[in-house]
Amino acid sequence: MTTSLAFYGPLIHSLGPDKVEIVDEALVVVQDGKISTLRKDVPRDQVESVFSSLNLNSDVKLRYLSRGEFLIPGFVDTHNHAPQWAMRGLGRGLHILEWLDQVTFPNEAKFKDPDYARRIYSDCVDGFIQQGITTVSYYGSLHGEATKILAEICLAKGQRAFVGKCNMDRNAPDYYRDMDTEESLRVTEDCIAHIRSIDPKADLVTPILTPRFAICCNNDLLTGLGEIASRNPDLPIQTHFNEAEQEINSTLGLFPEFTNEADLYEHFGLLSRKSILAHCTHMTDYEMTKLRELDCGVAHCPIANTTVGGGFMAAPIREFLRRGIKVGLGTDSGGGFSSSILDAMRQAFIVSNAKELMTKGKDPSLSLEECFYMATLGGARVCCLDEQVGNFEVGKQFDALVVSTVKQKRSLVNTMTEDGDSLRMTFEKFLMSGDDRNITEVYARGRLIGSQA
Ligand code: GUN
Ligand code: FE
Repeated sequence: MTTSLAFYGPLIHSLGPDKVEIVDEALVVVQDGKISTLRKDVPRDQVESVFSSLNLNSDVKLRYLSRGEFLIPGFVDTHNHAPQWAMRGLGRGLHILEWLDQVTFPNEAKFKDPDYARRIYSDCVDGFIQQGITTVSYYGSLHGEATKILAEICLAKGQRAFVGKCNMDRNAPDYYRDMDTEESLRVTEDCIAHIRSIDPKADLVTPILTPRFAICCNNDLLTGLGEIASRNPDLPIQTHFNEAEQEINSTLGLFPEFTNEADLYEHFGLLSRKSILAHCTHMTDYEMTKLRELDCGVAHCPIANTTVGGGFMAAPIREFLRRGIKVGLGTDSGGGFSSSILDAMRQAFIVSNAKELMTKGKDPSLSLEECFYMATLGGARVCCLDEQVGNFEVGKQFDALVVSTVKQKRSLVNTMTEDGDSLRMTFEKFLMSGDDRNITEVYARGRLIGSQA
């Protein structure tokens, strides 16, 4: 496994929500999977001497990026249902609870069969790697064996992943529901132990607590999961949060002692800096204050929010950023229709335009820089992985994409690069019109995990 690499050429990454650094002539050296050197503005005629002055092992070869190529950090997908891989696009227009009953639960029930799980998950992980997603937070199905298979596949293919057995012991059909609370908790602990055993240092795969949402979890299950969380403060937690009106009404009907979901999930010990809350489309000032205080992260899934679940739900992303709430992007897999974070970025941009209109200008739309931030460093912060990944700071893991705007298989989709285009223009053209054909190499921990070769 080659984990020592060196690149010379253009590099683009985020330093913060509205700060993108664009470097035309960068020298990056990767050793043992980590960025050991980043030199900016090294003229081409000096790169050889700078490189040799680093006294690296002779097996580290310097790779020159060619015209139209540049490096960006790998994308982070903060919300993804792996078992929905084969149902993406189905059930548009249905409200969330009908969509779960009619489309999602029958589909996820198929993962009882480990052979089916192996086949679909293998394709799923390949597919998301092809999209340049190097870090992902996956919901599995409720099945323990299939969830272990998903973690093993991520590890084997080299994708950095959180993997969680989905907890759901009520309000789901008999054929797709945890047998009872004890069974749900037992399978969860077993999956956690297994995932820790296959990757003891959590170099790539990490277990995550995954109560589907409060509608599907009775009090004892939420209490049990909260207890696991308090015994394992490093364990990340994910759930759906304030996704749609129908879902919020149903949740509060089941838990009349609470007036909002923030109090509910906090009561059960499921809100902390390790929590990844998907959607957060309807938010009161009270709930946003609570999320900020508890340092929870938001997985913004703008494609799902505008195509399935019930109408056009425009999450208050500008307000989250203003308040310093962590925000990343999610494809949501089945809830969305695209496995592309580029698509999620573009939809985030569109939804933010709508939000500007809806708030009469109070919440200005997002910039491209902010969308790119959410797709990379913002997502890493949501996953509490920003000391490891998210940009090209020295010491971080080399999770990176080689983007090519000229070499890809004759795609006329990405706006052509013209002579005289600045790197900024080439980058903007890619963000707004490119697709996975422009992502020619995908690296995680310095290992090439996907390429178009
Ligand atoms: N709420 C509960 N389960 C789901 C799911 O699978 N997808 C989405 N988008 N929302 C949910
Ligand atoms: Fe979801």
